[in-house]
Amino acid sequence: MDLNTRFPAVSDLRKRAKRRVPHFVFEYLDSSTGAEDQTQRNRGDLQDVHFWPAILKGKFDPDLSTTFMGRDYPLPFGCAPVGMSGIMWPRAEKIISAACAKAGIPYGMSTVATVLPEQLAPTIGDQGWFQMYMPGNPDFRADMLKRAKASGFHTLIVTVDTPFESSRERQRRANLTIPPKVNLAMIISMMLHPEWTLGTLKEGIPSLKLCEEYAAQANANSTEFHSLAHAGHIIRGQPGWDDIAAIRDLWDGPMLVKGVQKPEDAVRLTEMGIDGIWVSNHSGRQFDGGPSSISRLPAIRAAIPDTPIVFDSGVMGGLDILRALALGADFVMMGRAFHYAVGALGEKGPPHLINILRDDMISNMGQIGAGTLAELPACLMNPPGAGQTP
Ligand SMILES: Cc1cc2nc3c(=O)[nH]c(=O)nc-3n(C[C@H](O)[C@H](O)[C@H](O)COP(=O)(O)O)c2cc1C
Repeated sequence: MDLNTRFPAVSDLRKRAKRRVPHFVFEYLDSSTGAEDQTQRNRGDLQDVHFWPAILKGKFDPDLSTTFMGRDYPLPFGCAPVGMSGIMWPRAEKIISAACAKAGIPYGMSTVATVLPEQLAPTIGDQGWFQMYMPGNPDFRADMLKRAKASGFHTLIVTVDTPFESSRERQRRANLTIPPKVNLAMIISMMLHPEWTLGTLKEGIPSLKLCEEYAAQANANSTEFHSLAHAGHIIRGQPGWDDIAAIRDLWDGPMLVKGVQKPEDAVRLTEMGIDGIWVSNHSGRQFDGGPSSISRLPAIRAAIPDTPIVFDSGVMGGLDILRALALGADFVMMGRAFHYAVGALGEKGPPHLINILRDDMISNMGQIGAGTLAELPACLMNPPGAGQTP
C-alpha cells in the first residue's frame, strides 16, 4: 500500500481510523465537550494565521531542527499525553512511543495511560516526557515521580486544566465510561471491528494501570475508596499553587505546566521556577467557553520572552506547526493526530504521520522562504493577534 498516495494528510488518517475502531473508541478520541465550539475556534483561528508567500529566494533547504529545554531535536514536534491511549489500538502507547524514539522526538506518557511507566522504559529511549495529574495524596505523588524518573522519563508535564470533570456529551452518547464498562452497544460495535477487538483481547482489556495500583493501595489503607470508579478521584486532586511549588521541589529535572492560557499565570509559574509553559486548552475537551489556544500564544510569548513554550490544541498538519512556531511557540505537540494515525494504520501509522508533518513543514517553509524555524515570525502576514479571538 502506498501510504503517501492513500493517506497524504491527517484527515485521511482520521477517516480511516473512524472505520477501523469501534464507535465508542472513535468518539472518545475525537470528541470535545459541550457544543464543541472551542474545538472549532482552535481550528478557525489557526487557519486565520497567514504567511507571505515568498518568491525568488534562490536555492535553500529548510532546516527543521531545534533545541528545546537543553535538548536537540531534529523536528519541533511530538506526541502529547493522551489518557487511555491503548484503547485506540492495541499497544498504542508502545507503538507511538517507539515511533517517536526512532524519529528522535518526544513522547508524552499520560498518568492515565493503559501502561505503567516501567512498561514503556524499553521503547521510549531518550524521548520520554511524563505527564502528571497531581494526586491529592502526597505519597502517591512522590512515588509516581520516582517511578517515572526511574523508567527514563526526563521531563515532567504537570497538567492543570482539569479541575473538574467535563461533560463530554459525545462520549456519553457513545456509552463510554472511564474506566470502560462493557455494555451491549459496545459489544455489537466490537463485533463489527474484529481486528481491533481480537488485538485488544490479546493485549488485555485496557485499563488505567497506574491509577489501579494507587487505588489498590488506597483501598488497603482506608475504606474510603472501594471501587475503581474512584481511581480518577485519587489521581486527580484539585491542585492549587502550593501543589505546583511542592512538585517543583520534588522533581529535579525540567518541568512544564500544561494548560496555561493567561499571561499572568505564565509569569507566575516562571517566577516559581517552572522551566516551560505549555499553552493548551486541552483541545476543547474540558471547557467550551474559552478562547482558541492559538489566540493566546502571542500575549503569553510577550509576557515570558525567555521561557520555553510548548503549544497544542487543534494542530492537524505541518502548516499548523509553522503557524504556532511563528506566533511564539518553541515546540508543538499533537494528541489526536498521533492517535488517528495508530488507529488508521497500526504500527505504520505514527511513522507515516511524522513523515506527513515533516514533508508538509518543508514544503510550506519553501513556499514562504523560511530556511530555519527562527525565520518564521518574520514570514507572518498578519501581525500576532490580528484576525484571532481576542
Ligand atoms: C483522547 C484524549 C485524551 C487526553 N488525555 C490527556 C491526559 O491524560 N493528560 C493530559 O495532560 N492531556 C490529555 N489530553 C490532551 C492532550 O494532551 C493535548 O492537550 C490535546 O490532545 C492537543 O490537541 P489535539 O488533540 O488537537 O492535538 C487528551 C486528549 C485527547 C484527545
